[in-house]
Amino acid sequence: MTLTGRLAFITGAGSGIGRSTCRILARDGAFIVAADKNKKNADETINAVSKEFKQKHISLELDVGNSSSIDEALGKILKEYGKPPTIIVNCAGILRDNFILKLSEEDFDEVLKTNLKGTFLIVQKCANAIIEHGINNASIINLGSIIGKYGNIGQVNYAASKAGVERLTRTASLELANKGIRLNSVLPGFIMTPMFQAVPDKVKTKFMSKIPMGRCGEPEEIAEVIAFLAGDKSSYITGTSIEVTGGF
Ligand SMILES: NC(=O)c1ccc[n+]([C@@H]2O[C@H](COP(=O)([O-])OP(=O)(O)OC[C@H]3O[C@@H](n4cnc5c(N)ncnc54)[C@H](O)[C@@H]3O)[C@@H](O)[C@H]2O)c1
Repeated sequence: MTLTGRLAFITGAGSGIGRSTCRILARDGAFIVAADKNKKNADETINAVSKEFKQKHISLELDVGNSSSIDEALGKILKEYGKPPTIIVNCAGILRDNFILKLSEEDFDEVLKTNLKGTFLIVQKCANAIIEHGINNASIINLGSIIGKYGNIGQVNYAASKAGVERLTRTASLELANKGIRLNSVLPGFIMTPMFQAVPDKVKTKFMSKIPMGRCGEPEEIAEVIAFLAGDKSSYITGTSIEVTGGF
């Protein structure tokens, strides 16, 4: 198992890609800390993972947009495991779609706060904890989106947040490479999760017609790429983005 003994901290772990990532990383031997704003859903993730892979996995309530909530979560992890996580996966994310002429300032701020600032805070606080503990082999994986690269009608806030995540990841990778911390982004296309299922059918049909592989992705197909980036098989990869889009 490629991740035996590693401690993995996954945000947005109560649903979709985050939940699948918990399962796949546990399958590969990691201890899982599943964190989500929705604690009940994070608990469900951990119950399922613990049934299948009998190691010490825990769930936490966490708001990635809130600095003290992250400090509290990291404090609990250190108390429980005596060390910081060395695999960090930022899956927490939200949509608040609208056309630019109608988008409220509140919905713009909320998306930037969760998707971009949340990623910044988790990266900064986890990297500091890793360095303070003298660890020099860690991997941080941030969820961007193919929309951050090409844009999409009705998603100025989301596209801007995800473009920001990609550039943040690249820049942090330059600063942290000599500390043994690798950072990469995964850019999913259209993946069958509650987030995508909430998109109106008309829009879904339009997207589907543009996917060369003719189908949406499954969350496990993102999680497998995350597992590759988390482990030593990708030991010379940092600062890059991997598109997982069925060719979109
Ligand atoms: N599904 C797709 O098609 C797709 C495509 C591209 C990128 N992504 C990205 O992948 C990531 C996961 O998406 P998903 O489809 O699994 O979404 P999802 O809606 O199924 O899951 C997102 C999870 O994040 C949690 N969350 C939201 N705000 C939070 C906060 N402030 N603090 C902590 N947790 C919070 C939610 O409770 C939820 O459990 C997101 O960043 C999303 O933008 C998804």
